[in-house]
Amino acid sequence: MDSRRKFLKQFGTAALATTGISTFNPLNATNLKERIGKVSQRDPRELAKDEDFWYHVQKAFNPSPHFINLENGYFLMQPTVVLEAQIRNMQMINENTSFYYRREMAEERLNVKKKLAQLAGVSHEEIVITRNTTEALDTVILGMDLKPGDECLMTNQDYGSMLEAFEQRAERHGVKNNVIDIPLWPKNKMEVVRAFEKAVTPRTKVILVTHMINLTGQILPAREIADMAHERGIEIILDAAHSFAQVDFSIKDTDCDYMGTSLHKWLCCPLGAGMMYMKKEKIAKTWPLFGDSRISKDDIQKFEHIGTHPENTRLSIAAAIDFHESLGVKRKEERLRYLKNYWVNQVKDLPKVTINTPLGDDQSCAIANVAIEGMAPNEVSDYFYKNHKVWTVAINREAVKGVRVTPHLYTRLEHLDKLVGAIKEIAA
Ligand SMILES: Cc1ncc(COP(=O)(O)O)c(C=O)c1O
Repeated sequence: MDSRRKFLKQFGTAALATTGISTFNPLNATNLKERIGKVSQRDPRELAKDEDFWYHVQKAFNPSPHFINLENGYFLMQPTVVLEAQIRNMQMINENTSFYYRREMAEERLNVKKKLAQLAGVSHEEIVITRNTTEALDTVILGMDLKPGDECLMTNQDYGSMLEAFEQRAERHGVKNNVIDIPLWPKNKMEVVRAFEKAVTPRTKVILVTHMINLTGQILPAREIADMAHERGIEIILDAAHSFAQVDFSIKDTDCDYMGTSLHKWLCCPLGAGMMYMKKEKIAKTWPLFGDSRISKDDIQKFEHIGTHPENTRLSIAAAIDFHESLGVKRKEERLRYLKNYWVNQVKDLPKVTINTPLGDDQSCAIANVAIEGMAPNEVSDYFYKNHKVWTVAINREAVKGVRVTPHLYTRLEHLDKLVGAIKEIAA
C-alpha cells in the first residue's frame, strides 16, 4: 500500500504538470462527519457555494490526477471509505468461502436490504438488490403479463437496454411499442404529461418513464405522468438510474408501480449494485426471469435467485448508504446542481453554443448536455480531451446530439473552469 501511495503521489505530481491541475492527497482525509455536523443547520442551497466545506468532501474521494473526469454519468467513483469496505468484504468472503454463504450471508443480506429499503422509503418486501438498472427493469419488462396487441408507451430518449427489452416482447409476444418524442424545454410539467397522454390508446398497458434522462439530464414529472396513467388503469415503470440518490425524492411520492436504479451510480456503491422496486400487489403477477418455485408467488424473493455472485458488492452497499446519509441527499443535490449551473451559466449565451438541458431547478441537477454549432458531438468531446484532458462523452442519438457533462462531488470549480475555457475556445 505504501509503495502505491508513493507512486500515486509521484505520478500524480508529474501528471499535474501536463494538465495544470493540482490534486489533493486523498489519503489525508479529515473527519468528514465532524465537518458535516458543523454545517447541519445551514441551508443546503447556500452551503452548495461554500468551497471550504466541499474541499473536505472532495478529499473523501481519490480521482485520477491524469485527467479531469466530467463523465460521471456512466458510473460514479466510490468514496475511499466505500472502496475500503468493499476490499474488506472481499477478503472476508475469500477467507470464509462457502461457510459464509451457507451460514451467514442470508442474515447479513437481509440487514443490507432493510437499510436500503429504509433509505428508499419503502418496505424491504418490495425491493430486490440487483446488479444494475438493466437487470431490475428488464426483469420487469420481460416478466410483465402482456398479451399480443397490448401497447407499451415509451420515448426515444429512454435507455437502450429498456427499449431493447420491449423490442424483445414485441418480437416474442406481439406487444406493440409506441415510441414518442418529448419536449426538451417544456413550458411546464403538464406539457410533458400531455405528450404521453396524447399517445395513450385503450390498449396501452404500461408506460416507461425515465425519471432523469441520461442524454440530457432532463427530469420528467414522474408523479404527474403516473397520475394520468393510473386514471386510465395503466402501469408505470420508472427508470430511476440517475435520479436515485442524486435528487431528493421518495419512490412512494412518484407512485410508480415498478422502479429500477443502479446503486453504482449516484449512491456511489461498488460496480454491480442496483435495486428493483415493485409495489407489493404487483409481485404475484410478475414472472421472475430465473424462477424459484419454492418461494411463494407474491414474495419478492422469487426474483433473487441469480446463482453464485459476489456478495461483497451487496454488503458494501451499507457503507455507501452511511456515506450518503452522513452527507445528506439535499446537500448533495444542491451541490451537484450548483456545479452544473456554474459552468452552464458561463457558456449558455455564447453564439454557437446550445445547452440541450432544461435549467429549471426541478428540471435538471448534475447532468447537462452541450452542443457546438457546426461540430459533431465526438469532435467536441475529442477536442476537450486532447487539448484540455477534460473527459466527457459524446451523445449522438437521433433525439439529442451533444456532449454530456457530469460532475461528481469531487469536482472542483477549477475543473469546470477548464471546461468553460475549452468551450469558449472551440465556439470562438
Ligand atoms: C437512464 C438509464 N437507465 C438505465 C441505465 C442502465 O444502467 P446499468 O448499465 O447500470 O444497468 C442507464 C445507464 O447509464 C441510464 O442512464
